Amino acid sequence: MNLIFFGPPGAGKGTQAQLLVAECKIPQISTGEILRSNRREGTALGAKAETFMDRGLLVPDELVIDMVGTRLSDKDCRAGYILDGFPRTVAQAVALDELLEKQASSIDKVVVLTVPDNLIVERIVGRRSCGSCGAGYHIEFKAPVVEGVCDECGEELYQRADDTEEKVRVRLNEYDHNTAPVAAYYRQRGIVREVDGVGGMDEVYGRLTDALEH
Ligand code: AP5
Ligand code: MG
Repeated sequence: MNLIFFGPPGAGKGTQAQLLVAECKIPQISTGEILRSNRREGTALGAKAETFMDRGLLVPDELVIDMVGTRLSDKDCRAGYILDGFPRTVAQAVALDELLEKQASSIDKVVVLTVPDNLIVERIVGRRSCGSCGAGYHIEFKAPVVEGVCDECGEELYQRADDTEEKVRVRLNEYDHNTAPVAAYYRQRGIVREVDGVGGMDEVYGRLTDALEH
């Protein structure tokens, strides 16, 4: 199944994708994670993306579209995948359609996670991430066993540079202006499933898997 997980920053796209990956064994393709790993490795793409990401702005379409095109041609995507954080503009959605058409493939469902802004800020400011294995935590809602250390791989957790209240406001503004219209793009195809993202992680996951079945 080819899926898109859609929603504002902090809605739980990454958290829910990791739960589904564990159950379905299809890869999670997080454009934010791929960009961050390019930055860590000091690639040209990482350098180009850096200033946009740290300001909370979207990275230019052409950079992200090429990156996803390359990733989707990997063998592990043949049985399906979860796109997490892509497409984020209508131009990206159109480019994705063109790419999939060439592969005689298409998106099956778009899950739209809805969460109110006040909860988003609380989730984002408390998030901690593992730069080594990609596991996600929250200081209150999903605390690691040992503070600041990843349960999965033992590496030190870090706080993303764009995970401040000030940057979240910028990211929410980007979402409202550039990303929210993408949902309408898919809605007309009847493949959008709205999922209430408020509640415990497992509760939301239950709603999400129900929505995927219908
Ligand atoms: P990206 O990394 O995609 O960030 P985002 O979209 O802002 O989304 P987040 O990762 O912040 O949120 P999430 O929905 O994954 O939430 P999570 O599950 O972690 O992008 C970063 C940047 O890269 C962008 O700003 C842009 O610059 C660039 N970029 C990326 N893709 C791009 C694209 N396509 N085009 C252009 N630029 C692009 O949850 C958040 C927190 O809440 C965690 O701590 C989690 O533990 C907690 N939590 C989750 N669910 C629950 C729950 N049910 N209850 C309690 N806590 C919860
Ligand atoms: Mg994420």
